[in-house]
Amino acid sequence: MVKVAPSILASDFSKMGQTVKELTDSGADWIHIDVMDGQFVPPITFGHQMVEAIRPYTDLPLDVHLMVEKPENQIDFFVKAGADCISVHVEATKHLHKTIHSIKEAGLKAGVVLNPATPIGFVEPVIGDIDFVLQMTVNPGFGGQSFIPSTLNQIKALRTLIDDKQLPVDIQVDGGVNQETALACIDAGATILVAGSAILGHADYSDAIKQIRGEKKV
Ligand code: DX5
Ligand code: ZN
Repeated sequence: MVKVAPSILASDFSKMGQTVKELTDSGADWIHIDVMDGQFVPPITFGHQMVEAIRPYTDLPLDVHLMVEKPENQIDFFVKAGADCISVHVEATKHLHKTIHSIKEAGLKAGVVLNPATPIGFVEPVIGDIDFVLQMTVNPGFGGQSFIPSTLNQIKALRTLIDDKQLPVDIQVDGGVNQETALACIDAGATILVAGSAILGHADYSDAIKQIRGEKKV
């Protein structure tokens, strides 16, 4: 069964703890946390203090998506704050291998993020070192954007790469994932679906999560 990771970017920041608890009670698998620094992407969201603040509200894995320059400088902060997974963009660090290994050495799951136009070959040298590839299905920086259909080809190519090498690497997708595009992503080979507005914008989180997982007809 695929996993669903609601993105708290789409939630009301003044009620974050309560929302994380509700998402947990509604069947979420991971909680996705979008960290933006105003450099790698234009907006600024929040840093490791947010992970620390929501940690008491859930036992689910906290999945930190670092949209920041030099993510290597952030790893220790997020480890200490209680993160379980950290993903970094290939364009954001000059030392991808080293950064991945510092995440793994801290005992966390490590992910590498590809933008919609980033060739999948960029992750190939480290594919055996990571737990998941995050294929962006929109350009990073904002919630509520439309899914970019050409990214389905990237997901399929990643699935072939991972299956050919028989690696236990998940494919996470992020951006514009809703009840319809989720099914196309699953067909292409995705195993972890991040969704912000499609879940947080829905009156019933549990229903939205089930629909995205493909358990329930829309
Ligand atoms: C975009 C973020 C996403 C975002 C997804 O840069 O990485 O995680 O929150 O939001 P939706 O699901 O609304 O596209
Ligand atoms: Zn994200």
